[in-house]
Amino acid sequence: MISPEELFKKVTAHAKEYGFIFQSSEIYDGLGAVYDYGQNGVELKNNLREYWWKSMVQMNENIVGIDAAIFMHPKVWKASGHVDGFSDPMIDNKDSKKRYRADQLLEEQIEKYEKKGKTDKAEALNAAMNKALNDNDLKAMYNLIVEHEIVCPISGTRNWTEVRQFNLMFSTQMGSVADESDAVYLRPETAQGIFVNFLNVQKTGRMKIPFGIAQTGKAFRNEIIARQFIMRMREFEQMEMQFFVKPGTEMEWFAHWKKTRLNWHLALGIPADSYRFHDHEKLAHYANAATDIEFRFPFGFKEVEGIHSRTDFDLRNHQELSGKKLQYFDPETNSSYIPYVIETSIGLDRLFLLLMCSAYREEETGEGDKKEIRTVLALPPQVAPVKVAVFPLTKKDGLPEKARKIMDSLMPSFRCHYEEKDAIGKRYRRHDAIGTPFCITVDHESLQNDTVTLRHRDTMQQERVAIDALEGILFKHTGMSSLLKNAQ
Ligand code: GAP
Repeated sequence: MISPEELFKKVTAHAKEYGFIFQSSEIYDGLGAVYDYGQNGVELKNNLREYWWKSMVQMNENIVGIDAAIFMHPKVWKASGHVDGFSDPMIDNKDSKKRYRADQLLEEQIEKYEKKGKTDKAEALNAAMNKALNDNDLKAMYNLIVEHEIVCPISGTRNWTEVRQFNLMFSTQMGSVADESDAVYLRPETAQGIFVNFLNVQKTGRMKIPFGIAQTGKAFRNEIIARQFIMRMREFEQMEMQFFVKPGTEMEWFAHWKKTRLNWHLALGIPADSYRFHDHEKLAHYANAATDIEFRFPFGFKEVEGIHSRTDFDLRNHQELSGKKLQYFDPETNSSYIPYVIETSIGLDRLFLLLMCSAYREEETGEGDKKEIRTVLALPPQVAPVKVAVFPLTKKDGLPEKARKIMDSLMPSFRCHYEEKDAIGKRYRRHDAIGTPFCITVDHESLQNDTVTLRHRDTMQQERVAIDALEGILFKHTGMSSLLKNAQ
């Protein structure tokens, strides 16, 4: 039995060893909290994105997609509240030169008190911290850190700077003159590209409320505490959908999307007890309901997706700052209004990590001196990077030629790998490790009766099937449609 800590280490190492994820600019010792997806990682990521995209825009007649630019007018981020409010309270240790989130230092101290059974102290500190956060009182946060004698985990000293707000947006310059007015931001969320295009899409698509706009794409945040591999990155990908509804109906739709999104996760075959909702008690000023879908990662339950009822906050602010009407004309009531919005927002990289953690297995196989550990990535077949591997049993007697013919017939429909090196057992293991659900072996019998051995990843069972039947079998098990039907 692998412990959660061990599992996480193994998943991280496996992701690199098998071409899923590499550290960015590794030959220069990497760039903090930035990662590259390798040859298998990009396929898994593309498949997960496709699953999300199709379940939104293909399976819902009233949801359409867009692809907005990463750069947006600087006023967008003023209206959205990111310029003034998208920041974390930070504190630096003068000896280690390390920067920390002040609230996280305090939360860790609360946990320490709880572990030591000092419940009164934990509760008092929790209340004081929440008050300081609510009042945006940075001095009070600093005082709490000093009062509770919190030390820097690196230097072990209490030599702290004051607490300051640190905006998480990256800015850069546009055009040739580098003055303040030219500053543009790398978007910290994809959602705003949807809000500013709300009327463009509604009018050109003749959309009637309720309707949704979906988008996937890169987002950037200058995260200070970037930990746990691809859990918290500085460059990451979001898949967001804004659902525009009539004011007053938002709670109904919030409940609908809460249920629908959890079903979408469960359709991937991951046990339901690995998930939970975390309903927000303390709501952002613009929200009237919010919940997170949390997954049990090896380091505890953490947010993968947020579902937010954002009222008309974003559209109203964009209307005010741009001076352009962002209202929907309701032909049924002959009146105009600013719609309310239910947002579903999931991080693609976090979803990727979720899949890797839940799929990684080490299993004992064989008996006696043939006992061995096989590492399997039991990914849902529909999202596996390679759907089928084709092996000639030997490199002679016309078997490679026959195997190549099968490859050629399957390649237009499925991502296939051809391998003829090493013993069949070794080839199976290599594909178990990257999650390939099926392996086909071409042997001498194949030349006589046009049948092959089809080996199943999870059960390791082998069956003899007609070459003609392969495409149908693979479609049934690896095609996206079964997943999409289950997700409804
Ligand atoms: N538009 C709403 C929004 O951006 P969020 O809770 O800040 O909400 C949504 O982000 C999702 O994006 C999160 O649930 C998470 O999966 C992902 N996410 C946020 N910050 C991330 C980061 N630094 N690295 C990786 N994923 C991140």
